Amino acid sequence: MVSIKFSLIAVCLAAATTNAQLASWITNETSIAYTKMYANIQPSGTVSGCVIASPSKSNPDYYYHWVRDAAMTMKVVVNQYNTTRAGDSTLVSMLKNFVTFSRTGQTEYTRCGCLGEPKFHVDGTSYTGDWGRPQNDGPAIRATALIKFAYSYIAQTGDVAYVKSKLYDSALPTYSVIKADLEYVAHNWQSTCFDLWEEVTGLHFFTLMVQRRALIEGAAFANYLGDTGAGTSYLQQAASILTSLNTFWDSSNGLIQTSLSSSSSKTSGLDTAQILGVLHGYANDGQFSPNNDKLLATTYLLKQRFQNLYPINYNNPTYATAIGRYPEDVYNGVGTSQGNPWILCTAAFAELYYKAAITYNQDGKIYVTSNNLNFLKQFYSSATSGAIYSSGSTEFTTIINGLNAGGDAFLNTIKWHANTDGSLGEEWDRTRGYNTGAADLTWSYASFITASLARAGTPAF
Ligand code: NOJ
Ligand code: NOJ
Repeated sequence: MVSIKFSLIAVCLAAATTNAQLASWITNETSIAYTKMYANIQPSGTVSGCVIASPSKSNPDYYYHWVRDAAMTMKVVVNQYNTTRAGDSTLVSMLKNFVTFSRTGQTEYTRCGCLGEPKFHVDGTSYTGDWGRPQNDGPAIRATALIKFAYSYIAQTGDVAYVKSKLYDSALPTYSVIKADLEYVAHNWQSTCFDLWEEVTGLHFFTLMVQRRALIEGAAFANYLGDTGAGTSYLQQAASILTSLNTFWDSSNGLIQTSLSSSSSKTSGLDTAQILGVLHGYANDGQFSPNNDKLLATTYLLKQRFQNLYPINYNNPTYATAIGRYPEDVYNGVGTSQGNPWILCTAAFAELYYKAAITYNQDGKIYVTSNNLNFLKQFYSSATSGAIYSSGSTEFTTIINGLNAGGDAFLNTIKWHANTDGSLGEEWDRTRGYNTGAADLTWSYASFITASLARAGTPAF
């Protein structure tokens, strides 16, 4: 008995040291990520408001403004403007430039002839080569980002006039950026489009999640500005989207499928897109929350697949599973051969674990179901389906601590594979672990920052 106690203490002490080192690395890496993310927002040679996906101009050429990547990046900027950098005039002008850039993109010629055009040149004109279009997640994420900016900007400056003219002018033909995005989402969510990975058409869980959130937040914002007819109709569409989202559950395989009505030949149905869909699309209303049992079922299965798929995982079980986009992926960051683990996907798992812990704490209990059982057993091996663990119980505390430690373990995987100067690419070579694909991927930095904010208990969105 005595010796068992001693060895437990020894293990705890060793873990504490490691945790402190990890915590200090995370603080340092977060500040590097901010610097490198901001370096990709309107860098010299691009027009104001342009957000490049990466400075890489060849192998691969990511020197473009992608609507999705840019919107996710601007969410981080808005969050800083709303919190630690309130009142910062540099951020205000950056955000206003982004508004102008986005509105230009909405009104000029695009090959899609719609707001789902995914990619723009750094001079602001649309990319007209062949591409997977439309991609209807971008306008939704952008609306969510800019609605938060609008509230924050009004609260900080009282300048309602700017918001009414440049962000939400509901009069045709003038319209402004948020209004145009919301109208587009409200009228087009039922149509198939390309997924966030730009490869397959269909109806996508990720896309529908971010569209639903945009319409729910858009409805509140429309009502706030007196556009109540729109508010009512956005909410109706959001309710219909929820009905559609519920059909993605595959009860025989116990997972939320990534796409329906799809051209895809992927067979697993599993995709980190579902996790990203909840991270970016949860509307704070209890529907598909970060601790949703069906999502956690999916998360567990996906992690197992990646653990057994990538040599850097099964050859080095000390580190938490490096996560890819989906198991069938063949994109290697430059061309096609074999897919790799992605930094933003691994960061998404970390963020989900932290947010699941936050949400369970808000709920005050953990309800074990047959869906989340395997997921929860990772942290508490005696978990039983049907049990309810209340806040304050040993079981509850064990699971919450396990989730937070699990989130840290994913960030430790990022630490292990990060370049020595802290820079992050898009992917890690599945066999050797070095960074590959686009260097300094803006979205990698944004995703690391939002994971780090969730870890601190102050999630960005
Ligand atoms: C570039 C796309 O952005 C990426 O998602 C895709 O996997 C590759 N092309 C390969 O088609
Ligand atoms: C490929 C990814 O699949 C896609 O989601 C992203 O928008 C582009 N690269 C640009 O980063």
